[in-house]
Order: sequence, then C-alpha cells, then structure tokens
Amino acid sequence: MRISVIGCGYLGAVHAACMAQLGHEVVGVDVDAAKVEALASGSAPIFEPGLEDLLQAGAASGRLTFATGTAAVRGARVHFVAVGTPQRRGENAADLSYVDAAIEGLLPHLAPGDLVVGKSTVPVGTAARLQERLDEAGSGAVLAWNPEFLREGFAVRDTISPDRLVYGVPAGEPGERARTLLDEVYADALGRGTPLIVTDYATAELVKAAANAFLATKISFINAMSEIADAAGADVTALADALGHDVRIGRRFLNAGIGFGGGCLPKDIRAFTARAEELGRGESVAFLKEIDAINLRRRQQMVDMVVEALDGSVFQKKVTVLGLAFKPESDDVRDSPALDVAVRLHGLGAHVVATDPAAIPTSLRLHPQLGFATDTRDALRGAEAVVLVTEWPQYRDLDPVEVGGLVASRLVLDGRNVLDAAAWRAAGWTYRGMGRP
Ligand code: UDX
Repeated sequence: MRISVIGCGYLGAVHAACMAQLGHEVVGVDVDAAKVEALASGSAPIFEPGLEDLLQAGAASGRLTFATGTAAVRGARVHFVAVGTPQRRGENAADLSYVDAAIEGLLPHLAPGDLVVGKSTVPVGTAARLQERLDEAGSGAVLAWNPEFLREGFAVRDTISPDRLVYGVPAGEPGERARTLLDEVYADALGRGTPLIVTDYATAELVKAAANAFLATKISFINAMSEIADAAGADVTALADALGHDVRIGRRFLNAGIGFGGGCLPKDIRAFTARAEELGRGESVAFLKEIDAINLRRRQQMVDMVVEALDGSVFQKKVTVLGLAFKPESDDVRDSPALDVAVRLHGLGAHVVATDPAAIPTSLRLHPQLGFATDTRDALRGAEAVVLVTEWPQYRDLDPVEVGGLVASRLVLDGRNVLDAAAWRAAGWTYRGMGRP
C-alpha cells in the first residue's frame, strides 16, 4: 500500500518508519528541511529506542522516503495527518492551525477515493469539520479518524503492536471504504488479533481525550493520596501496591511522585476542559482542573522537601539533580516536572548540577543557567543533597555504598519513589520519598 504521512514529528516519524517496516511504501512530508534531511539519512531527530534502526532499514529497502513538498504525496492512497496540536498560548484550547494547514496542503494533490486519516489528538468535532472541508473542495476523498495511543520510549512497539485500534469513520459506503483501506494498512496487527473498535468520528476523537484524562486522573489520584500519607505518616507505595492487587484498579499509573509532564497529558487535559466548556458541559470535566492543580503543586512540594532537608535553605548549596526528561527513555523535556524542579532549586540560589542520559542538550537549550554534568559520578561529587526526579534505571540501580563515597552529605530525596529506602538507609543515607514515612 502506498502511504503518505504529513508531519514528521514524534508521531509522524515513528508512524512512517513503522509503516515502512510493515511492508508499505511510505513518504513522510514535513516543512522542516533539516528534519527531512536527517530522517532521509537514517538519523532520528528524537531519542526513541528502535527508531533509527527502522529509518535505516526503510531507506535501504527504498520503501521509506521523505520530502518537504506536499506534492510528494501524489500516488499514495492513504494520507495520515500526524501534525502537532499544541496548547494555544495563554489559553487551554488546542491550536489546530497545523491540522488545518495539513488538510489545505493535501487538497490540491488528492485523487477521488483517497483516504485521509487523522492521527493527531484533536478536540471532538474536528473530524466532522475537516470532512466538510474535503467535500466542499470537491476532493472526492474520505476522512477517517484513527487516534494514536503511543507512549514515548515505547513508540515503535506501541505502533507495531498497539493495545487496540480505533477507527472513526463516516456512515455508509464511504465508511466501508475507509475501513477496508485501514484494515489493509493494519493487516499485520489485525492478523495478530488486535482489538478493533469501528465507530463514528466523535467517539474516536473522544476515546483519545478520555484515555489521557483517565491516565492523568490515576496519577493525580495517587499523588493526592501521597499528600495524605505524608500528613498521616503512611506509606503511599505500600498503599499503591495494595490498591493495585484489586484487578478493577490495577497497579499501573499509580506511582506517586513529582507528577506527569510531557507533550501530551498536560495539554490534552486542558484542551479537553476547554472543548467541554464550548460544548456547554464544562462541569462534566471540571475535576480535570483539580487533576492539573494536584499535578502542578507536586513540583513545589518536592522543592520544599529539599529546602526542609537542607535545614531551611538551599542557597549556595550543591544540589545534584538526577534526571531532566519528563520520563525515562526519552530526551523530551516538554513540561518536564524534573526540569522544573531543577529550575526552581536554581531560582532559590542552589548550585544545581543536573544530569540525564539523554536530555542534557534539550535542557541546556532552554535553561543554560543550570549546571550540567554528563557523567553521573561527576554530577554527584561533593553534593549536599541528591534529588532523583526521573526514574532512569541507571539512577534506580545506583549503589548507595559506592555513591556515598562521592557526596559531601548522604542525603537523598526520591521524587519518583523508586529507590530501595532500606538499602540507602543501611548505607548511611538520610532517605526521603514523597508520601513515604
Ligand atoms: C501518554 C499516554 O500514555 C499515551 O497513551 C498517549 O498517546 C500520549 O501521552 P507519554 O506522554 O509518552 O504517553 O507518557 P506516559 O508514559 O503516559 O507518562 C506521562 C507522565 O506521567 C510522565 O511524566 C510520567 O513520569 C508520569 N507518570 C506515569 C507518573 O508520574 N506516575 C505513573 O504512575 C505513571
């Protein structure tokens, strides 16, 4: 199947590379010439395990190409729209200008019977509006909405082997045609029994908003329990383990700490709130404002914990910050709670030395005022406090005895509750977690 992918950011680059891996003939289109050149030469502009191998294999097979001009989509039958929908500056709502521009860019090149597939996360109602635009321009193309649920760090795996596929299609014959083409695109996953939900546009759009809202709620719920545990002298990690054994609840996404960040969950719950308000149903998701508020205050709570542990002031004290990315296996620092904690500590006059296996370049660009060390041991040397804020395995697995010889003071603050408190204490450290006694 010949496929085009419009937008080669996180979502688009991974989607294009995976579709080529599955045997399709793919062209990825992006306005950024430097990105296109990098992707075409087999180099991933983002840190994502497995992506570079797929880009190189795709280039070698001749099935994966990249271009800057939308004319390159000619000849493809299915066109995926995978551009960003960032939060509008100063507002909660999503900025749809890239989606609209992608559709306008496609219009002159579409042939009747082509399928346009939206993958971007959009406010409910967008797909219906875009299908109207395709019709009014006389394109003869059909639109489907096929939300993407990939996680950074697992993007290749999630794309090749998704938990489920969701198609939002129009009624009648055009919907049947859309489904047939999508089934062909996803034949590999469907052949392995991946659950498929075929529904209308609005439901498909809402599935994505609801999934992210639910995940954010789960995290803020356990973080709220962590605040109570702190006040009551209870242990939120044991609480989460016990809750998680109830299969109706489940243990995943119940890790308390400094909260969620990244390019999706924070902006998506805000955009969902804004859209619900437009629909006159603001009260239905008013709780998401509380979810956002709980999440955002965790960062300051972490900073307060460091200040308190350093006897009331971090001023001119050396604080080592382990982690900058919003989560492990990523170099992404968009809305990263870890980077935010580092910046806040620096703002209070601490000598921050931050380290991260992947996210130093992205952090340095945004916050050159921070101190950085690429080597973990260099970062730890002389520390008066060690603050773990992204749970990379290499930090979780640090040997407290060995590391104890590097620091000035054996004080560790665990913003992700991943260290073995007993082992660190046994090695002479003062250990503090979030919501742990
Ligand atoms: C998320 C959704 O999981 C994915 O389905 C959607 O397509 C895009 O948004 P992603 O942003 O890659 O994916 O990250 P995710 O793994 O969901 O983590 C989000 C944030 O929540 C991270 O900052 C992570 O550290 C935090 N988190 C996650 C917690 O604080 N506690 C947890 O228990 C789980």
